[in-house]
Amino acid sequence: MVARSIEIVTPASRVEGRIFVPGDKSISHRYAIVAALATGTSRFEGMSSGADAGATLSCLRQLGVPIRERATETGRAVEIDGRGLGGLSAPGGTLDAANSGTTLRLLAGVLAGHRFTSILSGDASLRRRPMRRMIDPLTRMGARLEAPGGHPPLTITGAALSGIDYQPPVPSAQVKSAVLLAGLHAAGRTLVTEPAPTRDHTERALGAFGARAVYGPGWAAVEGGQALAPVEARVPGDPSAAAFWAVAAAALPGSEIEILGVGLNPTRLAFLDVLRRLGARVEAEADSIEGGEPAGRLTVRPGGKGRLEIGPDEVPGLIDELPALAALATFGGELAVSGAAELRVKESDRITALVAGLRALGADAEERPDGFVVRGGRRLAGGRADAAGDHRLAMALAIAALGAEAPSTIDGAAAVDVSYPGFFATLRSVSA
Ligand code: S3P
Repeated sequence: MVARSIEIVTPASRVEGRIFVPGDKSISHRYAIVAALATGTSRFEGMSSGADAGATLSCLRQLGVPIRERATETGRAVEIDGRGLGGLSAPGGTLDAANSGTTLRLLAGVLAGHRFTSILSGDASLRRRPMRRMIDPLTRMGARLEAPGGHPPLTITGAALSGIDYQPPVPSAQVKSAVLLAGLHAAGRTLVTEPAPTRDHTERALGAFGARAVYGPGWAAVEGGQALAPVEARVPGDPSAAAFWAVAAAALPGSEIEILGVGLNPTRLAFLDVLRRLGARVEAEADSIEGGEPAGRLTVRPGGKGRLEIGPDEVPGLIDELPALAALATFGGELAVSGAAELRVKESDRITALVAGLRALGADAEERPDGFVVRGGRRLAGGRADAAGDHRLAMALAIAALGAEAPSTIDGAAAVDVSYPGFFATLRSVSA
C-alpha cells in the first residue's frame, strides 16, 4: 500500500482496533546487514516494508549479496545469502541510501573494514545530515573517509582496522552500531561508551548471529574477527510506529488500541512511561522472544493530558517519539521539550518543521533552539500542513488532525512510505 502525496484526515471522536504495525525499521537494517556478513542463508519474516529497509537491501545487493524477497501480509519475507565476514564485493557505482541515515551510517562501519573504495550517498535530506560523528571513530580505527563539509556523499576506503575505545560526543545508536560493526572487522576489542544509553539492537543482533558482544546500558564491546552464523527470525513490529496509535488512543476519550506482535525491547519503550505518567492506561505484555528481541501485545486506553517537561536526560530514549508526543499535547495539557537539538538533524529539521506543521493546523506551538513547547488549551481548527518530506512528521500531523474541528490536509504525506506504507489506510480503519 503506497500513500498518496496529499492525504485528507477527517476528525475522529475515538480510535479503536486490533492492529499490527510494520516490522521494526532499526532491527530490519541490522538483520539485513549482519546476515550479509554471516556464512550461510538467513531467513526473516515481517521485515519492514518501508523504503528505508528497501534501501539497505538494495545497497547490499550492489555489494554482491544475493537477496530474495517477497511481499507478504506482515511485510517483507527475505532470504539473504551471507558472504562471510569481510566478504562484500566492491560496488559498481555509488550506493544510494535514499532517505535512510541508518543505512548509510551502519554500512559505513561495515565498509570501513573492506579493502576497496565505495561511495555512499542519498536523497537531498540525507545529504544534509552530519557524518563527522562516524568519520572520526572510523578514521581512528584505520579507514579513510571523506565527506565534503561533513555531509554525504561519503567516500570510504576500507583498511585493516584496529579496535578502539570510543566515547561518542552525542548519544547515537547509529554511531555506536557503525563502530561496533567496524569493530567486528578489526583486530582486538572495540568498546563504545555512550553519553546516554541508546537502543541496543545491534548488540542483540550480534548475539543472535552467534558473535560474542558484551553490553549494558550505555556501553557495548565486541571482539574482531568473529564468524557469524545465519539466523531465522521474525522481525517484531516497530514500537516507534505503534507510538502514533498509542498517543491517539491516549488522547481520544473512549478509545482502545491493541497492537499485536510489537517489539518490546526496553530501550525503545520510554514513550510508554511518558503515557503512564500522563495517566493513560498502558499494558505491555511480551509473549515471544526471537533474535534476542522481546515482542508481544500493547494496549493503550485514554488518559494523558497533563503538563509534561522532557529534558536532556530523557531525550535519547524518546528521540523518535517526540513528534508523536507533540501531537498528543495538541489534545490538551502542555509539552515542553529541551535538550533535543538532535531533532534538527533528522530526516527534516524536526523542530522547525514540526512546530510549523502543528501551527498550520491551529496549534499553539513554539520553537526553542533545542526543543519546542506545545500548549493544548484549545481545539485545533484543522488546516493544511506540510510533512517536510519527513515520515514521522507526516504521521504526527495526521494524529494531531484527528482532534481538529474540520478535516485537514497533509502535504507530502507519501513520506510515510519510508517506515509505514500502510499508515493512512490503518488511520482510516481505526478512526471512529
Ligand atoms: C536509529 C537511531 C536513531 C533514530 C533513528 C534510528 C537506529 O538515530 O533516530 O530513527 O536504527 O540506530 P541516531 O542514532 O542518529 O540518534
